[in-house]
Amino acid sequence: MQIGIIGAGRIGGNAARLLARAGHEIALSFARDPQGLEQLAQEIGQNASVGTPAEAVAFGEVVVFSVPWSVIPLALEQAGSLAGKVVVDTTNQFGSGPMPGQGQTAAQLNAARMPGARYTKSFNTLTAGFPGRDRRPQG
Ligand SMILES: NC(=O)c1ccc[n+]([C@@H]2O[C@H](COP(=O)([O-])OP(=O)(O)OC[C@H]3O[C@@H](n4cnc5c(N)ncnc54)[C@H](OP(=O)(O)O)[C@@H]3O)[C@@H](O)[C@H]2O)c1
Repeated sequence: MQIGIIGAGRIGGNAARLLARAGHEIALSFARDPQGLEQLAQEIGQNASVGTPAEAVAFGEVVVFSVPWSVIPLALEQAGSLAGKVVVDTTNQFGSGPMPGQGQTAAQLNAARMPGARYTKSFNTLTAGFPGRDRRPQG
């Protein structure tokens, strides 16, 4: 599959490594320092490219959304519409920025901020070290 990554840090970057290793094509995006994305793309190899968040969305059948909570509005603004995309949201609500209302989950808030996306919250209960070690069950 073609997978766009918005936020290629500890969680998103490791997801990119593992997904590329499994044979998927990856477009990396969203960083204050684009050199970091270029380095990661070189490390991953021919299955990875670097672009803007909007380019990663256009590229991906699936979009992994993995940015700090406080910059979600900025990342969504740069991403543009996610309608029709499968979005895997790894975020957790630490720090500043809009927070879920009373009785609303973080997933419900984020799904509402991504109208039309086929939204799922995932990987947010694992620490970054877990996928980083490429743990797999025996067998
Ligand atoms: N770390 C964990 O163990 C863990 C576990 C579960 C869930 N989560 C959640 O998953 C999400 C990502 O966590 P993470 O630990 O992977 O974060 P991270 O390592 O800090 O990665 C975030 C990425 O977003 C980019 N970024 C940050 N601010 C930016 C800005 N203003 N403009 C453009 N790019 C920016 C960073 O690139 P630059 O640094 O180059 O700007 C970085 O690659 C968070 O919501 C976190 O709560 C984390």
